[in-house]
Amino acid sequence: MSNHSVLLHPISLGQIELANRLVMAPLTRCRAGAGNVPTDLMVEYYRQRATAGLIISEATQIVPEGQGYPNTPGIHSEAQITGWRKVTDAVHAAGGKIVLQLWHVGRVSHSSFQPNHALPVAPSAIAIPGEGRDAQFQKVPFETPRALDAAEIPGIVRAYELAAHHAIAAGFDGVEIHAANGYLLDQFLRDGSNHRTDLYGGSVGNRARFLMDVVDAVTATIGADRTGLRISPLQPANGMSDSNPWATFSQVVTAVDAYKLAYLHVAGMGVDQPGVAGPAFDLNALRALWSGKMMVNYRYDQARAEAAITEGHADVVAFGIPFIANPDLVNRFRLDAPLNEADANTFYGGAEKGYTDYPFFSASH
Ligand SMILES: Cc1cc2nc3c(=O)[nH]c(=O)nc-3n(C[C@H](O)[C@H](O)[C@H](O)COP(=O)(O)O)c2cc1C
Repeated sequence: MSNHSVLLHPISLGQIELANRLVMAPLTRCRAGAGNVPTDLMVEYYRQRATAGLIISEATQIVPEGQGYPNTPGIHSEAQITGWRKVTDAVHAAGGKIVLQLWHVGRVSHSSFQPNHALPVAPSAIAIPGEGRDAQFQKVPFETPRALDAAEIPGIVRAYELAAHHAIAAGFDGVEIHAANGYLLDQFLRDGSNHRTDLYGGSVGNRARFLMDVVDAVTATIGADRTGLRISPLQPANGMSDSNPWATFSQVVTAVDAYKLAYLHVAGMGVDQPGVAGPAFDLNALRALWSGKMMVNYRYDQARAEAAITEGHADVVAFGIPFIANPDLVNRFRLDAPLNEADANTFYGGAEKGYTDYPFFSASH
């Protein structure tokens, strides 16, 4: 790749200035310490990847009830904010930018994670088919969640707002609202998991009410120019489906567009399983409804990423697994260097192995 590659051109996403268009996708690695506090090893992991134009942090719970996997970090305690501050300082000292992904897993959780071992919460009392993980990372059947009372929802909106405030206090350049991959906000958006008959269910406008309230609260607190949003309209994981994904997500994108967010992040998971999450559609069609900056993700390589930008489908491209195995992905692309392979056995949990020990490229080898 030449130095003139469009992937190496700087760009601004709202207030955030990126040195290049390669974004590190959010990646849960289950290595937080006691109290779900970021560790020094996490500081090193993110520092190594600071040449990405932007790092999106691993998903981070806004409240204890939002946790669904062991050793995932939070942003609701003082110790967590202090731990994250070390990460953001390290990334900034290395010239990088980093936003925090705000997470509540809803029905993907298990009572073993919950205060007082309560049931996880969701829009409706509908269990995900199959097995999830408990707090010991053992496989267990998903539980039937408790449907949230409408009166509880403003409190969760407030928790998103507070978490965004904490993220800025921890030194992040902004936040990404996680409304993808079958977690709580996505569970409200799609009609397979939302059977409510109140103001938060039924029409797309009602199903999107919770997300819109979160967008409204977060942007009012930290500014729309520091707020991004991630959606995954065709992602079937976590038992997700929608009877009409295009109707749902075209309305959601149109409504959110009015807020002039820093970016919209569309994850393409599920595009290779057409119809599983509902009738398929061309995710690129969402581009026409969005007046701001667009981020895309899912199995991109250098050539496809360049094409996505030059063909106008995206402004920036996020890479997940390639950034796990290649901390210096930007340099490797610049030099047309070979890529390290990722080891899936070390994705979740553990220590340095498969985390901070992937080699940087050395031209002498
Ligand atoms: C180990 C692992 C952890 C992930 N954790 C998150 C996460 O915390 N938040 C999220 O939105 N997506 C998460 N994803 C999805 C990735 O952000 C990305 O969408 C996916 O890996 C596809 O992109 P890729 O083909 O470039 O890897 C995760 C994926 C993997 C493999």
